Amino acid sequence: MANPATVEQTVRYRSANAVLVGNALTKVYRMGEVNVHALRGIDIALYEGELMVLLGASGSGKSTLLNILGGLDVPTEGRVVYRDQDLTSADNDQLTAFRRDHVGFVFQFYNLIPSLTARENVALVTEIAPNPITPEAALDLVDLGERLDHFPAQLSGGEQQRVAIARAVAKQPDMLMCDEPTGALDAATGRIVLEVLERVNRELGTTTAIITHNAPIAAMADRVVTLADGLIKQEGYNSQKKPVREIVW
Ligand SMILES: Nc1ncnc2c1ncn2[C@@H]1O[C@H](COP(=O)(O)OP(=O)(O)OP(=O)(O)O)[C@@H](O)[C@H]1O
Ligand SMILES: [Mg+2]
Repeated sequence: MANPATVEQTVRYRSANAVLVGNALTKVYRMGEVNVHALRGIDIALYEGELMVLLGASGSGKSTLLNILGGLDVPTEGRVVYRDQDLTSADNDQLTAFRRDHVGFVFQFYNLIPSLTARENVALVTEIAPNPITPEAALDLVDLGERLDHFPAQLSGGEQQRVAIARAVAKQPDMLMCDEPTGALDAATGRIVLEVLERVNRELGTTTAIITHNAPIAAMADRVVTLADGLIKQEGYNSQKKPVREIVW
């Protein structure tokens, strides 16, 4: 947040505007005789409308954390609360409903259905969502309004990723969780994809979390959280976040 008036106001603003709160999150993967401690006690929140970038070395726990916040996985210990709903006590059906209604996911690989067009891939989601925008509007938002009837094989990697983003945002989720959305793309194409995420965050107000290996990208965020070895090592706000087009990497 740029120039908060007082620390007290900041604290009040932040606690009033948390969409999702994770408390004391731990994750232990049991691999035969060995326990892998992926998360070692993380307190984190996502705030209304913010764009948060999550940095950290390979293996530091970024994907594990995002998967737990998005309801794709559950913590070993700790709590996740979405608005007034405690997800820790949710059963599988409730967790599925939470993901379906409130979270859009974007991954490194686009997971589009090859036999469906761009429009049909997005429609798969809009047909079951309670409050969707149309597939056409979603594809327009990612600048693919001219490619509605193209199949994934007829689109470049960056274009396929934009279809995946259109699919994720078409249901108008409260939160968008992106795990290395540019990981499979060259820098120029990655930039276009990040500009699309920046636009979705700005125009739809979708609370957005983006995992990246690419530290300079953090300049586009309102807030940057860095993980190391399953813990939050650093957290800070950009008082002046940069438009993606001005970031050099
Ligand atoms: N399903 C799993 N079973 C066992 N160990 C796992 C599993 N998933 C992750 N881990 C371990 O948990 C730790 C954190 O993994 P995670 O995938 O969250 O890291 P990451 O920060 O996303 O890394 P990367 O940048 O390489 O994607 C790693 O040591 C990893 O090996
Ligand atoms: Mg990862």
